[in-house]
Amino acid sequence: MINPTVLVEIRDVAKRYDDSGAGLDSVTLTIRSGESVAVLGPSGSGKSTLLNLLAGLDRPTAGTVTVGGVRVDALGEAGSARYRRTAVGMVFQFFNLLDDLTVLDNVLLPAQLAGTPRGQANDRTTELLRQLNIDDLRGAYPGRLSGGERQRVAIARALVNRPALLLADEPTGALDTAAGADVAELLRDINSRGQTVVLVTHDLALAGSVTGRTVELVDGRITSDAATATR
Ligand SMILES: Nc1ncnc2c1ncn2[C@@H]1O[C@H](COP(=O)(O)OP(=O)(O)OP(=O)(O)O)[C@@H](O)[C@H]1O
Ligand SMILES: [Mg+2]
Repeated sequence: MINPTVLVEIRDVAKRYDDSGAGLDSVTLTIRSGESVAVLGPSGSGKSTLLNLLAGLDRPTAGTVTVGGVRVDALGEAGSARYRRTAVGMVFQFFNLLDDLTVLDNVLLPAQLAGTPRGQANDRTTELLRQLNIDDLRGAYPGRLSGGERQRVAIARALVNRPALLLADEPTGALDTAAGADVAELLRDINSRGQTVVLVTHDLALAGSVTGRTVELVDGRITSDAATATR
């Protein structure tokens, strides 16, 4: 019987790339629903690899990845695509917005791809744009926005399908200090509403302001897992 409060269960996971050393090695990690976890570690330690496995973007070489009772590592192509559309939301350092679409359409797109009825998708999008304080930008194109505004749009897009898990890889890496602090506050707020968040960062201060737990990776292995140091 699965403990209902466990959302993520990573068991003995290894990820090896053909042309390099291990990306991850013997990683075991459990994340409860509603937690906010920072993944810290030096460049090349496996942080993005771990996130990509959780996102179903990649498969482990060994071990299992279970999210919300679903064996993500064992999904077929269609199941994996569906999982990525509905169960996880991803935010990246460089936003990855579609420049030819307005803010509104960028946020709507994943809901449309998931087959959400138009009215429902519109309502959800409007709710998120308000919550993230970018409602007045709904008709704007991403190219016109500041980095902080773009990241708000990317966060709205990641949340539109109400994913169980929000994954963020260096979401403040391309932002100045003030915009980064804004995004941090937003992520904390989103987590305080019950959203489970996994945040990859180099930034101890960001981890401290957003997360309650910090997992450290070195050379593809977890070297510490503890309450985030508060500043
Ligand atoms: N697609 C790939 N093909 C081959 N090797 C890869 C691939 N992706 C990652 N790696 C290797 O796996 C290891 C972990 O990479 P990963 O991107 O997870 O590190 P990271 O902790 O996210 O680093 P950074 O902080 O620089 O983003 C590195 O040695 C990297 O070179
Ligand atoms: Mg990375």
